[in-house]
Amino acid sequence: MRISVLGTGYLGATHAACLAACGHDVVGIDSSPEQVAGLSTGSSPFHEPGLDTLLQAGVGRGGLVFDTDYARVRDCDVHFLCVGTPQRPGSHAADLSALWSALDSLGPLLEEPCLVVGKSTVPVGTAVQVRDRLRQAAPAGDEVEVAWNPEFLREGHAVEDSLRPDRLVFGVESDHADQLLRDVYAPMLARGVTAVRTDLATAELAKVSANVMLAARISLVNLLAEVCETVDADVGDLTDILGRDARIGSLFLTPGVGFGGGCLPKDTRAFAARAEELGVGDPAALLREVDTINMRQRARTVNLAVDMVGGHASGSTVAVLGAAFKADSDDIRDSPALDVATTLHARGADVRIYDPRANANTHKARPQLSVAAGVEQACADADITLVLTDWDEFRAIDPVALEPVVRHPRVIDGRLVLDPDKWRAAGWDFHALGRGTR
Ligand code: UDX
Repeated sequence: MRISVLGTGYLGATHAACLAACGHDVVGIDSSPEQVAGLSTGSSPFHEPGLDTLLQAGVGRGGLVFDTDYARVRDCDVHFLCVGTPQRPGSHAADLSALWSALDSLGPLLEEPCLVVGKSTVPVGTAVQVRDRLRQAAPAGDEVEVAWNPEFLREGHAVEDSLRPDRLVFGVESDHADQLLRDVYAPMLARGVTAVRTDLATAELAKVSANVMLAARISLVNLLAEVCETVDADVGDLTDILGRDARIGSLFLTPGVGFGGGCLPKDTRAFAARAEELGVGDPAALLREVDTINMRQRARTVNLAVDMVGGHASGSTVAVLGAAFKADSDDIRDSPALDVATTLHARGADVRIYDPRANANTHKARPQLSVAAGVEQACADADITLVLTDWDEFRAIDPVALEPVVRHPRVIDGRLVLDPDKWRAAGWDFHALGRGTR
């Protein structure tokens, strides 16, 4: 099939590469010439394991091209909308301006019957507006169909999640649209992946609902962690016990500095904002609390660090290990680690930050922070060390070897990745959110 992918950020670039791997002819469109130039040589603009290989295979075969020019999508049978829908400045709602702008470029090109499929995360009700706007602008009019097919990929696992998804969701208004999506995803369906057919609104809700459930779970476990600290209980043991309950499960139960990234924080806020608009603002108070508890984790980490260095950040040297919002990613959007580092710097600390993949992005976004080339450089003469991203490299740190590097052996484990006994035995003053003094 001939397929276009509009928007080649994390979602679009991965989707385009995976569709090409399924044997389709794919054209990816993005407004950024630099992004298009890089992708055209098979190089991903962000760190995502396995993506470069997939891009190179598609580009090499000639089945995957990238361009800034919408005219290239004119003869495609299916168009996927993958543009970003970030948080609107000064509001909790989603900013859909990139989506409307993509549709304004696409609409007039649609001269033949085709299917336009939304993948971007949007407030419920957007798909119907997309359909109406396109049908007005397109020469093919009502022969343009709209479907919603949300993506659940996690950064760091985007290729794996796209090629082997837990489920596919087809929000459609006709058998024809359902069949076209079945053709697009034929290789995955043949491998036994389940496609759930539903309406447009339910499909739109599926993505944001999954993200708010994950966000709520993390904030709930962070609430438990705070109670654990107060009564000197151990949240690691507690989540182990909870996770063994089949009804609860063990994933997304790690407390610490909280959730960040381009999805969970903004989706939680956007969902609450949309619920207000729909007149269900009272129950959405739960989501505002989820956000508040999450942001509180960052403040608690800053306060704990300041307490541990004697009550004043000013004049202290702070090593921050981790800048990305999670391991296996160079993404620093709404990163708790970077937020904590920036706040400590603003309070007068000399902050040195190191991340295995996100140093370049950190330097660009926070030129005021000193970026270190490795753990030892970040920790040299540090008064306190904060581990704020769950990289394996930090899990593997030898506390005995690091102890002589720092000025004061004090550490905060903000991701529950360090072994308290090992660190304490090596002479460190060790604190982990939710672990009390154990
Ligand atoms: C998320 C959803 O998982 C994915 O399905 C959706 O498509 C996009 O949003 P992603 O943003 O890549 O994916 O990150 P995710 O792995 O969900 O982690 C989000 C944040 O929660 C990270 O900051 C992570 O460190 C944090 N987290 C995760 C915790 O604090 N505790 C946990 O137990 C799990």
